[in-house]
Amino acid sequence: MIEVMLNIELEKNGGYGMTALYDEIGLAYDTTRKADPEIAGRLRNHLQVTDGSKVLEIACGTGNYTVALQETGLQMTGTDISKEMIAKAKEKSSLIQWELADVKRLPFNNNTFSGAACILSIHHFDDLFAPFKEIYRVIDKGRFVIFTSSPEQMNNYWLKEYFPEAIAKSAKQMPDVKKVSKILREAGFRIIGHETFLVQPNLQDFFLYSGKYKPRMYLDENVRSGISTFANLASKEEVKEGCSKLKKDIQTNKIEDVINKFSSDLGDYVYVVAEKR
Ligand SMILES: C[S@@+](CC[C@H](N)C(=O)[O-])C[C@H]1O[C@@H](n2cnc3c(N)ncnc32)[C@H](O)[C@@H]1O
Repeated sequence: MIEVMLNIELEKNGGYGMTALYDEIGLAYDTTRKADPEIAGRLRNHLQVTDGSKVLEIACGTGNYTVALQETGLQMTGTDISKEMIAKAKEKSSLIQWELADVKRLPFNNNTFSGAACILSIHHFDDLFAPFKEIYRVIDKGRFVIFTSSPEQMNNYWLKEYFPEAIAKSAKQMPDVKKVSKILREAGFRIIGHETFLVQPNLQDFFLYSGKYKPRMYLDENVRSGISTFANLASKEEVKEGCSKLKKDIQTNKIEDVINKFSSDLGDYVYVVAEKR
């Protein structure tokens, strides 16, 4: 019943900007996006829950990490605001409970879950306090693990050399990690800590900076179409120009100098681990 009401409400609102974007991205998302085992393994560790625990993934998209976490022995629920993404997720597992839901209005009772995770999504929320408060409400006692990147990390991606406007816009969209921690505390959470994540050459989920060591990856339109920075924030001209410069730099090996120029000790992504006691 709650699900039906929520669906009607989403329809009534004509969806949200984000719904439309991900309804479109959802069509080809899984061509290039899949759960990376290293990211999923670390998520599982940070959650610090026993096998069989009920865990919620917020903004689960097509459910790649929901399924990966389920396969580590958790009882998973996945929620997302996009109909298209949830429809794709539903095809992947009938063991997982999938719900179409805005993070600000989760269709669950108080204290339902032993933990929650949110992967590469908080930058899409129009504010953070209401979502964090809602996630706090549905967790009983347990951790909330966020995987994201900070504006500072993003501003050190070498992609900036080729797609400066899109990366600047993308970095601006990322919530600052200090701000994220502050809002988590305001919502009631205690901060356990932060762990930076460095992209490895064998990373399997093709998100924005997963091609750090595989520059050729960005020349592939299929890869770009699964990444919101390219799908939503970059103009056609910028992509065309950036790709042509990148292609040339790959051919002449100049790309190695560019990658070195942007090397940084900030890490590429970050886990923010919070807890409800
Ligand atoms: C980059 S995708 C990440 C999907 C998934 N976590 C993954 O890593 O594959 C971002 C997701 O956030 C979802 N999203 C954006 N705003 C949301 C909101 N207010 N409530 C729930 N989901 C939302 C989008 O529909 C999209 O599926």
